[in-house]
Amino acid sequence: MRGRPRPAGRKPDKAPAREIELYIDKLGSEGVGVARLDGKPVLVAGTLPGERVRARVEGGQGAITQLIEASTDRIAPACHHFGSCGGCALQHLAWEPYLAFKRDLVVEALRRQGLGDVAVGATAASPPGSRRRATLEAKQAGGTLLLGFHGRSSHHIVDLGECPVLLPELAALLAPLRKLLKVLLPAGAGATIQLAAGPGGVDLGLMLPAVPDMEQLERLSAFAEVKDLARLWWRADGMAPVPAAQRRSIGLRFGTVPVDPPSGGFLQATAAGEAVLTAAVVDALAGAERVADLFAGCGTFGLALGQRALLHAVESDPAALGALASAARRAGLGFVSTERRDLDARPLLVAELKRFDAVLFDPPRAGARAQVVNLAASSVPTLVGVSCNPATFARDARILVDGGYRLESVLPVDQFVWSPHVELIGRFSRR
Ligand SMILES: C[S@@+](CC[C@H](N)C(=O)[O-])C[C@H]1O[C@@H](n2cnc3c(N)ncnc32)[C@H](O)[C@@H]1O
Repeated sequence: MRGRPRPAGRKPDKAPAREIELYIDKLGSEGVGVARLDGKPVLVAGTLPGERVRARVEGGQGAITQLIEASTDRIAPACHHFGSCGGCALQHLAWEPYLAFKRDLVVEALRRQGLGDVAVGATAASPPGSRRRATLEAKQAGGTLLLGFHGRSSHHIVDLGECPVLLPELAALLAPLRKLLKVLLPAGAGATIQLAAGPGGVDLGLMLPAVPDMEQLERLSAFAEVKDLARLWWRADGMAPVPAAQRRSIGLRFGTVPVDPPSGGFLQATAAGEAVLTAAVVDALAGAERVADLFAGCGTFGLALGQRALLHAVESDPAALGALASAARRAGLGFVSTERRDLDARPLLVAELKRFDAVLFDPPRAGARAQVVNLAASSVPTLVGVSCNPATFARDARILVDGGYRLESVLPVDQFVWSPHVELIGRFSRR
């Protein structure tokens, strides 16, 4: 029998909140404990498998009110913002099971695509305090300048006094940046801060609500001076980045090649993660003579191959590609060619792929579906895929396997410590 019709636009009444005892079965993909209640999953942040908790449950979400029985894998979190800050989900989990969780994310994504028999290595870790790239938010709110990451499942900014994830030189900028932005931002205004660091120093970018006036620009360049930043740039409302202080390079090298990434450009999130990925790329491509580096950025992997192969780097961002090309020119690398191209709209064609004996692809989170379809129809002997999204990597891997490639091995790489994100590298060979 059908019930009385609901008035238009009114949602069915949600079950009222209730406090209840729950048993946590597993960790979900967001690093959140999952219990079952009335046959449905309930997500309880801050819990671990095997724990018994009391939680206030509303909809499919539970907020822990009491930890009745703790997991033996539970440890004290490293940061006093843990729980409120949305940057970390898993500081309360011991290191080994934490790394195993990250590996499981990769295994599960592959299994869902029927690739459960692929050899997946142990997660290559990046230690806490090693993140060299981060985006923070700031807001001038009621006389207080908030600076930090967004809160867990919220748009509020958690004002960070510390951040054990970041490199110490980046964490040390939190307090001075707060002071700077307090003077710079008008009431109610917000800004986005992009931090990157290399051996030569820090690159600080500010996305501001308006073009700074002369006095503010002087303040910015004085800040760069006092904090000994390598570079400070700003941009407002869709403008290209404008340098406020360009004091030196941040000192990055890919292999032996010095590279100056563009303001706000992509950079692998930790030096440790980049080293593991680069070593795996170099190993997988040993012996290749003509390599295509697709989604090349400013050359993290391609330039690290050095003289081993003729390199064709393809990338849609002109600033990144320009940085790669100038680095290759300065280093006298005549074997590097570059091509600006949107690989989603215009993937390399099967005929174009014929000239390569290896192809490396490292797309953004959405993956490389269009390019992979052409690779699957190609005869390139060796492929290497790097990804920050196991689900789209597994989807693309399925296309390649169906096209006759073998996914030989996958290595999970953790560059976003204590978050539920994981990266990976996989190598394929033609069967
Ligand atoms: C995950 S980053 C990898 C960059 C580089 N491999 C590295 O490790 O530094 C992905 C790169 O793909 C580029 N990109 C995004 N969409 C693209 C597209 N449709 N075609 C070509 N390049 C694209 C981005 O600009 C970015 O440089």
